[in-house]
Amino acid sequence: MTDGDRTGPTAQAPLGGSVALVTGAVGALGAAICRDLARDGADIVVHHLRQDDEARALCGELEGLGARTVSVSADVTDTEEVAAALSRAQDQLGPIDILVNNAGWMESRRLVDTDLAQWRRTMSVDLDGVFIVTRQVVPGMLERGEGRIVNVSSQLAFKGATDFVAYCTAKAGLLGFTRALAREIGPTVRVNAIAPGPIDTPMVTPHATPDWVHARTRDSVIGRLGLPEEIGPAVTFLVGPGASLFHGQTLHLNGGGVLG
Ligand SMILES: NC(=O)c1ccc[n+]([C@@H]2O[C@H](COP(=O)([O-])OP(=O)(O)OC[C@H]3O[C@@H](n4cnc5c(N)ncnc54)[C@H](O)[C@@H]3O)[C@@H](O)[C@H]2O)c1
Repeated sequence: MTDGDRTGPTAQAPLGGSVALVTGAVGALGAAICRDLARDGADIVVHHLRQDDEARALCGELEGLGARTVSVSADVTDTEEVAAALSRAQDQLGPIDILVNNAGWMESRRLVDTDLAQWRRTMSVDLDGVFIVTRQVVPGMLERGEGRIVNVSSQLAFKGATDFVAYCTAKAGLLGFTRALAREIGPTVRVNAIAPGPIDTPMVTPHATPDWVHARTRDSVIGRLGLPEEIGPAVTFLVGPGASLFHGQTLHLNGGGVLG
């Protein structure tokens, strides 16, 4: 679609006229979030990590839902790559109104088997990457006097998990980032987080033996893995007009794994 095409039903949709950047968009959760944002009328910057074919397919699907799209590849840990991607995206779709920091990295390793390089790999994607993208997007939001950010944390930031000390640390750090940034740039920019429980995606599949799934879900209310399509509605809520009182908050999308 082109600029002139945004005159259909999506122009009246809750997010009509907004441009949303979703990092790690071709991943399972990212794609589900993109679909819900597009259904609510947003145009979508499909960010990916050299996954051109998947990104092209997702853009086609989102355009079928009425969104304008552009796909951009960048390693979120590389400042220059992110700058080039943002510049291309904004040239094509306009300024970014909504940022969903969804790209993430999870690695299973005991603390005593983790070396500094492995520790830093998790921190670099899950924290540095969020800093790098957010740092480049926020000035435009402040200049225009409006913006919304959702950071994708994890219920493991609250529960902790054997073999995932680095990941739990990073995702807990992301909640500190969310709260501090909400105070710093709110209410102009609304900054919030979601903390999903285990979702049936390729990120958990390598670990998902029946015992693993049972251990992760037995103390939840729903007693099963969540589904990717159960995540997007919380994101569209947080970036939509109904969430005007939500600043620095975390929505727990975990089927009752962590109550509170
Ligand atoms: N799947 C779950 O159970 C679950 C639960 C809680 C939170 N999360 C979080 O949800 C988010 C999405 O996870 P998912 O399950 O869809 O996983 P996924 O592996 O399908 O998606 C992660 C995406 O991040 C991208 N990515 C990784 N490193 C990157 C880098 N350096 N630069 C750019 N992109 C990079 C990958 O290309 C991938 O598309 C992650 O932040 C994850 O930590 C997932």
